Amino acid sequence: MHGQPIRHFLRMDDFSTDELVHVFARTQVIKDRFKRYQPYRPLTDRTLAMVFEKASTRTRVSFEAGMYQMGGSVIHITTGDSQLGRAEPIEDTARVISRMVDIVMIRTYEQAKLERFARYSRVPVINGLTNEYHPCQILADIFTFIEHRGPVVGRTVAWIGDANNVAYTWLQAAQLLGFRVNISTPPGYGLDPRLAPAGPHLAVFDSPLEAARGADLITTDVWTSMGFEAENEQRRRAFAGWQVDERVMAAASPEALFMHCLPAHRGEEVTNEVIEGAQSVVWDEAENRLHAQKALMEYLLLGREVD
Ligand code: CP
Ligand code: NVA
Repeated sequence: MHGQPIRHFLRMDDFSTDELVHVFARTQVIKDRFKRYQPYRPLTDRTLAMVFEKASTRTRVSFEAGMYQMGGSVIHITTGDSQLGRAEPIEDTARVISRMVDIVMIRTYEQAKLERFARYSRVPVINGLTNEYHPCQILADIFTFIEHRGPVVGRTVAWIGDANNVAYTWLQAAQLLGFRVNISTPPGYGLDPRLAPAGPHLAVFDSPLEAARGADLITTDVWTSMGFEAENEQRRRAFAGWQVDERVMAAASPEALFMHCLPAHRGEEVTNEVIEGAQSVVWDEAENRLHAQKALMEYLLLGREVD
């Protein structure tokens, strides 16, 4: 991609609909090869740096395993074990890291910080979760839906719970891919209109049961996201009526799937019965982080010139 402007994946709408469709198609190819134990190493000699300012299990393992499987190597740093924890500016960190590696994934707090990193980076930057968005998660989630139920166009996704990074990313995806998101949040925890412009892709409901009615997918996430731990007790009380349970699932389409980005708190945002139930695809969803992010890295580093 010499001479081309660097592409980043900081938000879902950094990619066009056509690019997302391409990434989903490549996810399928890459997954099929993986399942057949067929080596696919187009990223030999490429290095991924991962910067974690928040904890992770899935994001770390899926990016790290994915890069090794594609023939590359990985460097993992955190705030605590790098100079980021001693206040080295993000702009300086970006200029240094991006002279040494081919692609960077960052998990941090404010989206603005990620954007500052990307502005100073010589190489593609991937959002591994910020307070505002989690686009890698939604790539995997939509691929999982397509695998189980076919195209997402015209479908309805019901989001029950906190208006958080994962919810805002669903909304961006809905605009790009032509589906609708029904959202129900407790009073005082609603959508920030700056992150969720109104439109036909979005419908807001007071009642979780109303939001779930007829939906093709029910999804939720923790009541307290990373960085908001001080609000934990207050949130536990406010969100008590926003648990995905059998009643919520029964209001949805009989074919509805259940998804959760994980980690989950059983007995809070979801019951054990639902997450372990027949409609739940949470383990496929987690596995698909691996395949979708391999397709994402392939696209950012090699474009469409792949076999
Ligand atoms: N869903 C997700 O991003 O999980 P981790 O926090 O474990 O990476
Ligand atoms: N909304 C959660 C997602 C964790 C993967 C958080 O930001 O903590």
